[in-house]
Amino acid sequence: MKGVVLAGGLGSRLYPLTKVTNKHLLPVYNEPMIYYPIKTLVNAGIDEILIVTGGNNAGEFLRLLGNGSDFGLKHINYTYQEGEGGIAAALSLAEFFADNGKIVVVLGDNIIEKNIGKAVDAFSRQKEGARIILKEVDDPGRFGVAAFEGKRIIRIDEKPSVPSSNCAVIGIYMYDSKVFDFIKTLKPSRRGELEITDVNNYYLEEGKLEWDILDGWWTDAGTFDSLQCAGNMVAKTGANKI
Ligand code: DAU
Repeated sequence: MKGVVLAGGLGSRLYPLTKVTNKHLLPVYNEPMIYYPIKTLVNAGIDEILIVTGGNNAGEFLRLLGNGSDFGLKHINYTYQEGEGGIAAALSLAEFFADNGKIVVVLGDNIIEKNIGKAVDAFSRQKEGARIILKEVDDPGRFGVAAFEGKRIIRIDEKPSVPSSNCAVIGIYMYDSKVFDFIKTLKPSRRGELEITDVNNYYLEEGKLEWDILDGWWTDAGTFDSLQCAGNMVAKTGANKI
C-alpha cells in the first residue's frame, strides 16, 4: 500500500510563526513536525510515500527530507498544492501517485504515540471502501466527530457546536481508489474548502466505512495550544513507538 502526507495549506492559525516557513517544518520538541506523520506511515510498513505541500517554502521540504534516507526510504515523491483548497483538494493531487491502488493518508500536523500497523493490516484485508480511526477526546468540537446509533456510526459532523459523542475522527484515513472520483463531485463547504468529512460521509452512506479506535495518545499541532501540547507529549513519552 502507498502513503500520502498532506502538508499543504497556509497554517494561518499559527501566524506569525508561519509567516516565513511552512507549519509542518516547525519544531515539535526535537524534530520538525513533518517527521512524525512520515514515521507513522513507515512504522506501518509503508515505504512508497508522497508529500503534498504548498505555500512559499515548499522547496525547504526537499532540503530537509531529501530522498528519505533518514527514514530508511529509497526515495520520496513530492507534489505542490496551490492555495488552501482543503484536505480533500490536497488529496486529489495524489490520484496519479495512487495508480488505482489503496492509500493511507496522514495529515501533516497529526502526531500519535504508538502505531497504526493493525488498522493498516485490517485495511489491506478489507475488500473495498474506507477506514477511519477514532479517539476519545475532551474537546471534540475542534474535529470531525462520529455520531453513533448503538455501536454503528450514522454520521460524521465537522466541528459541531454540539458534538454528539466525544469520538474525534483523527487525521489518518484509508481509502480505495474510488476516493478520487468522489472528490471530483465535492462542493466547497462554508469555510470554502473541500472537506475530508464529506468524503468519509460518502463512504458511510455507501455502507463501506470501517473504523478502529486508536491505542495511545493522539494530537494535532495546528494551533498554538495543540502545538505546545504536542511538544510536551513527545518530550514526556516519545512518539511513533513501534
Ligand atoms: O486533526 C484532525 C482533524 O483534521 C479532523 O478531525 C477534521 O475532521 C479535519 O477536517 C481536520 O481538521 P482541521 O481544521 O484541524 O484541519 P486543518 O485545516 O488544520 O488541516 C490539517 C492538515 O491538512 C494540515 O496540517 C495540512 C493539510 N491540509 C489542509 C488544508 C486546509 C492540506 O494539505 N491542504 C489544505 O488546503
